[in-house]
Amino acid sequence: MVAKPTERFLGQKLSDAARPAQLTRTYLLNAATIAVLVGQLARWYWLVWAGALVVAVALAWHAIVLAGQVKSARRIHIGAVGFVASACCLPVGALFGAALSAGLPGQWHGAVRQAHMFTNVAGFVGLAAMGALSVLFPAMWRTRGQDRVGVALALAGAGVVVAVAGSLLRASAVTGVGTVVILAGWVWLYQGFVASALTVVRDPRGRVTYPALSALCAVTWLVGGLTWYAVRVFGGTLEVPTLPLLLGFAAQLLIGTMSYLMPVTMGGGRPR
Ligand code: HEM
Repeated sequence: MVAKPTERFLGQKLSDAARPAQLTRTYLLNAATIAVLVGQLARWYWLVWAGALVVAVALAWHAIVLAGQVKSARRIHIGAVGFVASACCLPVGALFGAALSAGLPGQWHGAVRQAHMFTNVAGFVGLAAMGALSVLFPAMWRTRGQDRVGVALALAGAGVVVAVAGSLLRASAVTGVGTVVILAGWVWLYQGFVASALTVVRDPRGRVTYPALSALCAVTWLVGGLTWYAVRVFGGTLEVPTLPLLLGFAAQLLIGTMSYLMPVTMGGGRPR
């Protein structure tokens, strides 16, 4: 969960009294994740539903707490708004997942799986990644930040709502428009990232590092994968692009940002 980054983004320090509730949410989320996995493997669908409900409650609680932090901050950091929007997506996505666990009749299964993918990958993962990258990308590439994340978040958030509605209505044109709007948000951010990264040509200073390249490549996978998928969605596909989005984008971004953040926060200095 993204409680600590939110504090840092908002320049806040929560009191120690707030920590036990944060830990409770973390324990709940971990226990619920295990319940979902065991339930799915053992085909105990009641356990998948129970786990998904606990995931939904933990994330809804988390979203309310984060929103309170953002509201009480002296200066609202738009990246932290991305964390709130991200936390609002998972309760919905978890319930779609629970509905999928025992299988749904006919075309409903594909439609709900597509809605699950949009809510969880483009919404939960994507909006949190936008918020985090608005600060981490310039830090990794040692450039000045760009003021693009507000527009990017608004486009991606609206796109997720439209794409989920299109999936559930089985209206491929609506899903396609939603996908293109999500893509537009990412392209807007990506253009700023590429422009920042290209400043290394005239000012190298050892700025091309593994984490910096990983972040750039992850967003490249996302933009490429979503472009390819948008074309297929207009053609009526209900398949989901799991590999480019979860491996190319999410996993690569996570490994890249952890390779940057862990040495920095553990005191080993910046990675080279
Ligand atoms: C409580 C939480 C969750 C539950 C109960 C759940 C459940 C499921 C189930 C049952 C399926 C299989 C659908 C099928 O029959 O094809 C599925 C697929 C999928 N889930 Fe989840 N899920 C959850 C969370 C997540 C999260 C957090 C993500 C992303 C970060 C995610 C991403 C996906 C993707 C991409 C697929 C499609 C896989 C494919 O068909 O290639 N899910 N989920």
